[in-house]
Amino acid sequence: MPTEETIKRAARDIAKAKRVIAFTGAGISVESEIAPFRGKGGLWERYNPEEYAHISTFRNNPEKSWQMLAEMLEHIKKAKPNPAHLALAELEKMRKLRCIITQNVDNLHQKAGNTSVIDFHGNARWLVCLECDRKYKLDDLEEIPPRCECRALLKPDVVFFGEPIPIDALRRSQEEAGKCDLMLVIGTSAVIQPAASLPIIAKRAGATVIEINLEPTPITGIVSDYLIEGKAGEVLPRVVEAVKKVGIRE
Ligand code: OAD
Repeated sequence: MPTEETIKRAARDIAKAKRVIAFTGAGISVESEIAPFRGKGGLWERYNPEEYAHISTFRNNPEKSWQMLAEMLEHIKKAKPNPAHLALAELEKMRKLRCIITQNVDNLHQKAGNTSVIDFHGNARWLVCLECDRKYKLDDLEEIPPRCECRALLKPDVVFFGEPIPIDALRRSQEEAGKCDLMLVIGTSAVIQPAASLPIIAKRAGATVIEINLEPTPITGIVSDYLIEGKAGEVLPRVVEAVKKVGIRE
């Protein structure tokens, strides 16, 4: 449990910063019952994501990939934003959060009310045709594996292993990371590239980098200035309340 002093330190840093952004990973959605990639529990104990969510598995054996995807998408459809997502939405309303760059595909930041979200690894609320690029809403999913009107295979509009990051998301994220003066790095193991380079870009540009995580990561104390150790859903609401007390400097 982080001390009141650590929470206040983060609140003071956020209050005095002019360009705050958040970079989030699977850990922020754990309290919405979506399993993280690394660590215990959930879907990934039964399905190795680097096998089932690899683009070559998807192309060669779509039934196999879709077995895992159907289960994952069912979870995502039902999931609701938790207090960590809601705290970031509040920070945006307070005009203290410029944008969120998320590695998650669960759409929970948008469901929480954030309007400026960069989906670094895509967003599972859409399905995209591998042949004609036509998009469908996840809610319209009927058959498994789903097919486009053109009969080609549909794939969730997310970045699979072996696929590049969408160029626009990559460019915008690098630009935001390079221009921010404070980055909140929340619930990510910070090991998957190129996402993991974003805190480094921010640090090199002179930003304060604050991590919120259950445990230290490879960037703790090297790229990040400090770590607030705890659950995002408990830490972030406390930080946002403390920002209100410190006062908001625009
Ligand atoms: P990981 O599963 O690698 O890391 C989750 C992190 O969240 C770990 O550092 C945990 O300690 C932390 N964590 C867990 N529960 C938490 C909680 N309640 N509060 C705060 N922190 C918590 O997930 P990512 O770093 O997001 O890529 O993984 C990055 C990418 O690897 C994913 O986007 C995915 C995967 O391969 C693709 O799908 C392309």
